[in-house]
Amino acid sequence: MNIQQTLSIIKPDAMKLKYSGKIIDFLEEKGFSIIAQKKIVLTKNQAEAFYIVHKDRPFFNELVEFMISGPIVVQIIEAKNAVSLYREIMGSTDPDKAEEGTIRKLYGSNIQCNAVHGSDSVENATTETSFFFNKLEMIK
Ligand code: CMP
Repeated sequence: MNIQQTLSIIKPDAMKLKYSGKIIDFLEEKGFSIIAQKKIVLTKNQAEAFYIVHKDRPFFNELVEFMISGPIVVQIIEAKNAVSLYREIMGSTDPDKAEEGTIRKLYGSNIQCNAVHGSDSVENATTETSFFFNKLEMIK
């Protein structure tokens, strides 16, 4: 079994709409275990660093402002093939284009305020989980 861990972020839009409990419940129903979890508010520097791969995209500044606009929940979640499974149940970046029954279809508002983030590769999952958590914070 290819057990993997991936990073999940419940974004400020979903937090403001009080969807965090529903999203956590959804993840557990789909078979994910929560290995680490915390509620934080990102600083501008932290948000810019996390999304550095998007620094040349036209939406970068707007994305950073959105991600620092309120609390987020960051999680390490674990399952068989966690990276691809989470991307499947998140749905497309744009909630309007997301498949029925996916998190972004259910809880996202628009292409920016799309409820959740999930790592897009196994390599990035390692980088992103260690951006937010150290080993002491991870409990199996
Ligand atoms: P995420 O999976 O966190 O990765 C990058 C984020 O940028 C994405 O989700 C959206 O929140 C945001 N994003 C992507 N494309 C656009 C866009 N065209 N306009 C505004 N925000 C976007």
